[in-house]
Amino acid sequence: MKIIELESEKKDDWRWRKMIKNESDRDVQGYKVIEKEIGRSLSSKELEIIKKLEEKFPRSDFFFQVNDSEVAFHLNSLDLNAFKEYANHLIKEYELDVQTEKNIFFEIIKEIENIKSYGIKSGKRIYVDYNKEKKVQNRRSKILRRGAYFYALNNNFSEKVNELPEKFVNKIICGDSEHVLKQLPDNCIDIIFTSPPYNFGLDYDTSEDGIDWNRYFSKLFAVFKECIRVLKYGGRIIVNVQPLFSDYIPIHHIISNFFMDNKLIWKGEILWEKHNYNCKYTAWGSWKSPSNPYLKYTWEFLEIFCKGDLKKTGSRGNIDITGDEFKKWVYAKWDIAPERNMKEWGHPAMFPEELVRRVLKLFSYRKDIVLDPFNGVGTTTKVAKELGRRYVGIDISEEYCKKAEKRLEEITC
Ligand SMILES: C[S@@+](CC[C@H](N)C(=O)[O-])C[C@H]1O[C@@H](n2cnc3c(N)ncnc32)[C@H](O)[C@@H]1O
Repeated sequence: MKIIELESEKKDDWRWRKMIKNESDRDVQGYKVIEKEIGRSLSSKELEIIKKLEEKFPRSDFFFQVNDSEVAFHLNSLDLNAFKEYANHLIKEYELDVQTEKNIFFEIIKEIENIKSYGIKSGKRIYVDYNKEKKVQNRRSKILRRGAYFYALNNNFSEKVNELPEKFVNKIICGDSEHVLKQLPDNCIDIIFTSPPYNFGLDYDTSEDGIDWNRYFSKLFAVFKECIRVLKYGGRIIVNVQPLFSDYIPIHHIISNFFMDNKLIWKGEILWEKHNYNCKYTAWGSWKSPSNPYLKYTWEFLEIFCKGDLKKTGSRGNIDITGDEFKKWVYAKWDIAPERNMKEWGHPAMFPEELVRRVLKLFSYRKDIVLDPFNGVGTTTKVAKELGRRYVGIDISEEYCKKAEKRLEEITC
């Protein structure tokens, strides 16, 4: 800080710090600066608060500079929550105006919150030079050299969008998805969220579950091929699946390979942590022995694929996810309890509404068209309707389809 031109007794008085634009002094370099023109001098209460904030946090994190009409906040790193908490406490203690436009501290906090690029270290946001700490330098050029999603390049997907015919919009259709989907045009669906039968041997109303794996995958992939065809360019397909660990069948990997072989981009994977601890500890004969320990899983997977492009177009006005939801849900491990009302709906393998809510808000826009080709008793279509999406639900069981219709009728909004 440049204080050399001040009288000597004022040199150490923080209130007399001069603000000098284009400062070359080394103290000021290396900080991000938030400047606020306030058109007045700060009150003694505001100056006291600044002093206390500076005393509370390490000098290297930030410092203020003030003059007759401006405040500059020099920011290097910050535990933002702790800063906000302490600032709020002081604002109350000193009885400052709490209207944002009249409160310089709220204005500064708002600007700090608007800074979207920062690193994180030991719980602090690092606003300056955080790239230098990255383990991998020149990340972009390295990605270019390696080639991202190489398996999905040279696809022949058309970008032309087709309208879903009115007779399918907001409908539950009873039938075999492989055949029903053939009636839909190419590129007419925005997002597909589904949970296929896992072939564990469950008691579904009509379909066989627990058949030879080759037959199982060839039927599943026939449906998924149609799904890829009807999906719009930039559309997403998200498959909830549970591997059959007891038979050592990694269904989630086999399904992922299928989509990648068909040129979809694997966008990622969400662990749906169900905390269902009723799995067995060990196979007989391997208790406390390395001979064949049985691994326990309390979660399922959501595999996410994109057709042609990772970016999905949509109007900003149709985004309905909140900032808090976004921050929480991009962390790809979701703690959600399993569906508890399966008995009530008479279906052995429903997923919970919360799972659908998160998927649709995170990956689609309002008014988008949502498809579930294994719709069961209609959890996807119910939530889609509630969230202002359009939908098509297909299931082979008439009984399940009737229940899905009933759930839609019960929605009042
Ligand atoms: C895991 S369940 C989906 C449950 C659904 N997510 C819910 O919450 O209600 C799989 C569904 O696929 C249906 N199904 C099986 N084969 C089908 C096919 N070829 N076409 C359409 N639906 C099928 C079954 O009837 C079953 O309801």
